[in-house]
Amino acid sequence: MQKANNLKNMRLNYEQGQLLESNIKMNPFELFRKWFDQAVEAKIIEPNAMTIATATKEGIPSARVVLLKGFDETGFVFYTNYHSRKGKELNDNPFAAILFWWREFERQIRIEGKIEKISRKESEEYFNQRPLKSRYGTLASEQSEIIENREVLEKRFADLEKQYGANPPTPENWGGYKLIPAKFEFWQGRTSRLHDRICYHKENNNWKIFRLQP
Ligand SMILES: Cc1cc2nc3c(=O)[nH]c(=O)nc-3n(C[C@H](O)[C@H](O)[C@H](O)COP(=O)(O)O)c2cc1C
Repeated sequence: MQKANNLKNMRLNYEQGQLLESNIKMNPFELFRKWFDQAVEAKIIEPNAMTIATATKEGIPSARVVLLKGFDETGFVFYTNYHSRKGKELNDNPFAAILFWWREFERQIRIEGKIEKISRKESEEYFNQRPLKSRYGTLASEQSEIIENREVLEKRFADLEKQYGANPPTPENWGGYKLIPAKFEFWQGRTSRLHDRICYHKENNNWKIFRLQP
């Protein structure tokens, strides 16, 4: 097992695949779906875990992991607290970047675009299909706010369970966001650091495709 003092020697040669212009699909959503399905079939743990980077209006960035809960050609959906740090940053600056790293395939996907809230109806539908305990966890938490200790949170959870029983309401300040992509980059690790990087940028409603140096 390598320890942190060996960081300079930690590296792998990437040999799992290749991404060539000759076999990419014209539409980045189709390529995303193909890679995502392969990650699911390979039983990668939480293939839908993605890092999302947001920034304040001054441009100070922050990043964290969330779960992708839906995607189609209109965008990529995740759920969170609209008053959380990310929620406040997105309110002030709707541009964000999401990132998937599937190490088993030596693949990274970067997607950038603008974020919009999804409808209240869709958010409620998703909230109500979540496990009951998760719904209470969401209801009990003022995400990203300081709390005195864990007991306060657990008491709030228990009190809410008593209050609402089997039907907790969807919190007003909780729901989905959709990232509407303007840019994709598909990265496939290759040997000798000569990785493949294929980009799709939306220009005048068409996807312009090009390769970047690794
Ligand atoms: C694997 C994983 C999945 C997560 N999924 C979500 C999610 O779907 N929604 C969410 O709000 N937070 C999720 N989190 C927690 C976030 O990373 C983060 O702690 C939280 O959203 C607060 O971030 P913020 O203070 O920057 O707003 C997840 C964390 C991990 C590690």
